[in-house]
Amino acid sequence: MAQPQPGDLYYDPYDYAIDANPHPIWKRLRDTAPVYRNEKYDFWALSRFADVLAASLDHQTFQSGRGTVLELIDKMPEPTPMIFHDPPSHTRLRKLVSRAFSPRRIAQLEDRVRGIARGYLDPQVGSGGFDYVQDFGAKLPVMVISSMLGVPEEDREQIRIWTDATLARDPGETEPTPERRELMAQLWGYFARYIRERRAEPRDDMMTDLLESEIVEPDGSTRRLSDLEVLTFIGLLSAAGNETVARLLGWSALTLEANPGERRKLVERPERIPGAVEELLRYEAPSPVQGRTLTRDVTLHGATMPEGAVVLLLTGSAGRDEREFPEPDRFDVERPIDRHVSLGFGIHFCLGASLARLEGRVALEETLARFPEWSVDREACEMIHTSTVRGWETVPIRL
Ligand code: HEM
Repeated sequence: MAQPQPGDLYYDPYDYAIDANPHPIWKRLRDTAPVYRNEKYDFWALSRFADVLAASLDHQTFQSGRGTVLELIDKMPEPTPMIFHDPPSHTRLRKLVSRAFSPRRIAQLEDRVRGIARGYLDPQVGSGGFDYVQDFGAKLPVMVISSMLGVPEEDREQIRIWTDATLARDPGETEPTPERRELMAQLWGYFARYIRERRAEPRDDMMTDLLESEIVEPDGSTRRLSDLEVLTFIGLLSAAGNETVARLLGWSALTLEANPGERRKLVERPERIPGAVEELLRYEAPSPVQGRTLTRDVTLHGATMPEGAVVLLLTGSAGRDEREFPEPDRFDVERPIDRHVSLGFGIHFCLGASLARLEGRVALEETLARFPEWSVDREACEMIHTSTVRGWETVPIRL
């Protein structure tokens, strides 16, 4: 049973016009339809911070196992990555990989991340301008993951080019084109060969750790991950870690330019940058929609969502909820933020959170140290549209 909804209130994550600026609609959802029903795509949506948080914590009711991307629910080929698992298999898979992403392990990567960032930014000094996403934001995370996986230095640029092709979409393209599929096949072929080589020749890198770690089966027996399972995990890292960081950095260039006073505060006091990264994540969540399916009927704010229903948790809306964040539409790098849901919450909390924060902080430190001011050529900026990630594919800046 849905609540009565204002007739003109409409939201779906596929509509380009809404995606361009969903904040006014998300506000109306929070205020007038906190349990929103979309008949066209057959989903429900929760938009208030408290509801998104509670649903993220209640993984027994709000499950991920049938998928978390609206158009892919019940359509994912096996083996699915852990983001589409529930306990107990999610617990087993997550335990296997969490060590490689622990805050301590990630902190050790700082020099490497900084070196990669400098390598892209130094040549831009004196250039007059560059594309902050294409020439920097989209490159940095791919190179960092390749380096964590131990991909030989000489292959990393090719991996980046292939990864770029898998992420890019032309206007109106919802399915990858045959050319893109071919590039994706080359990328996966590369990693399949790489996995075989590493099994034969272990080294000190995350790939070797993955290949050597043992998964405990429900009956207590142990086994190594299959090549396909390792490949699936690499695919998840690429899908969850590259595009999101690229979008975060695109939003950073735009938001800081639109708020020059806040940018100046970061130039003057770089120690404020970690707080600014949290504020950026809250203000424009790069991954604003997480799907779930219900294992039982749930009644909330007078509406009943039935067992089996698909529910979208609008984490992007939660970050602008005035019930949680005073003056939520104001971008304030000094805002005290105890918690937000832009990196998820509960058992699926972003595995790469420490890495995302490190990349965001180092990227901004290195950017602001070289370029304390820039302007954005807004006419030339292009958004990329998917149902899970929101942000910019190109952000040309002038120095
Ligand atoms: C700004 C950058 C990032 C954002 C905004 C982001 C956002 C998120 C969110 C919202 C979730 C929860 C999904 C859900 O509840 O269904 C998530 C999960 C995940 N993220 Fe991130 N992420 C970022 C960067 C990264 C990076 C750099 C990596 C790894 C290299 C990564 C790997 C993952 C993985 C593996 C999961 C699934 C965890 C699980 O199911 O237990 N993410 N991320």
